[in-house]
Amino acid sequence: MVHNETIFGLESTQLKFGRNSLNELGWELSKFNSTKVLFVVDPVLHDFDVTQKILDQIKSSGSDVITFDKISVEPSLKSFEDASQFALENSFDLIVAAGGGSTIDTAKVVNLIKICGGAVMDYVNAPIGKGKKPTSQLLPLIAIPTTSGSGSEATTVAVLDIPEMNLKTGISHRFLRPSLALVDPELSKTTPSGVTASAGLDVISHAIESFISKPYHKRLKPNSPDERPPYQGSNPVSDIWSMKAIDFVGKYLSRAVLNGEDIEARGNMMLSATLAGIGFGTAGVHIPHACAYPIAGLKHSYQASGYKKCFVPHGLSVIVTAPAVFRFTYDVDPEKHIKAAELLKGSVIINPSHESLPYELIKLMKQVGAPSGIKELGYEKQDIPEIIKGANKQQRLLSVAPKKVSENDLNQILIQSMENW
Ligand SMILES: [Fe+2]
Repeated sequence: MVHNETIFGLESTQLKFGRNSLNELGWELSKFNSTKVLFVVDPVLHDFDVTQKILDQIKSSGSDVITFDKISVEPSLKSFEDASQFALENSFDLIVAAGGGSTIDTAKVVNLIKICGGAVMDYVNAPIGKGKKPTSQLLPLIAIPTTSGSGSEATTVAVLDIPEMNLKTGISHRFLRPSLALVDPELSKTTPSGVTASAGLDVISHAIESFISKPYHKRLKPNSPDERPPYQGSNPVSDIWSMKAIDFVGKYLSRAVLNGEDIEARGNMMLSATLAGIGFGTAGVHIPHACAYPIAGLKHSYQASGYKKCFVPHGLSVIVTAPAVFRFTYDVDPEKHIKAAELLKGSVIINPSHESLPYELIKLMKQVGAPSGIKELGYEKQDIPEIIKGANKQQRLLSVAPKKVSENDLNQILIQSMENW
């Protein structure tokens, strides 16, 4: 007999948040009894005093350190393999990762290969990779995010680009989740405004997608707890994290983008990235993220503000389809869609409708200088079938969508997303 799921769980990274929380890294490290740390760091941080500050903290804990800083802006299979090779050639018993999602994701994969062996593709989500699970617990990983987007410090996922296959995908397992996130608003000063905008748009999509994702009790019960997916669907606990993140993005994202010195806004955006990370790390993201992988993977001609090379930053690849997706999913749970719109707006919406949430999102996109849609990212209507093909490969994500999404539905969503305004 087939039964629906009756159980959900919350597994969460420990969190320490606040200005100068970085100064407590040494104290935190001493609790792990580490003797040698692998420090994975975005080289951008060398230009600020962040790298040195962290090295000083590691040394104050009495631990030795080796540093790896060959981080790709959008990690690829090759960059993960190179980082893993470095890890295999060196010994260490704890990892500290400082940077954006790319750096923290690299550290997660390094940890996985160091402890469980094998090739990176063995662990990449099936059907693209073999979808193998880690065979044992990994080393402690302390994540120090410096951007305010991916929420990687709180999630079980590492995302990678596979240029040979023209796609992006991920590795996902609860053992990949960092042990501790040290979130220090002072570090947000290192981030250009364009990056804060893109990252913040990723956060709002994480929060709304997880808030409206298929409720956990509508999934089939797994045969064993081991088979329960990390993305369990929305539940009362993940909703709390997601709602707070939507509220914070509404209050702080525009301010954080417009003024890099506004540490209150930037700090609260960092916190909202972590809040949303805990929310979606439990509930899951779906259609906008499934579409984002091919949108970021197929064309690389877009020059986004704040980035040095031409490509589609993750947050922008996600947000361009979000208004059309939330228009499509509205009828499954109007109440939650309206709640999300009200949290984002910061006040009650009179005469709410299926357009309320897309309207509030588009308003935010305009405020922070987002592209109006996938056309601006370099796509034409004839590219839509290829995007659909890529999105359909992300079944792990699409299965968390609140309703079934057919190829025709994706086609309609992408047509609407050519230009959102
Ligand atoms: Fe994302």
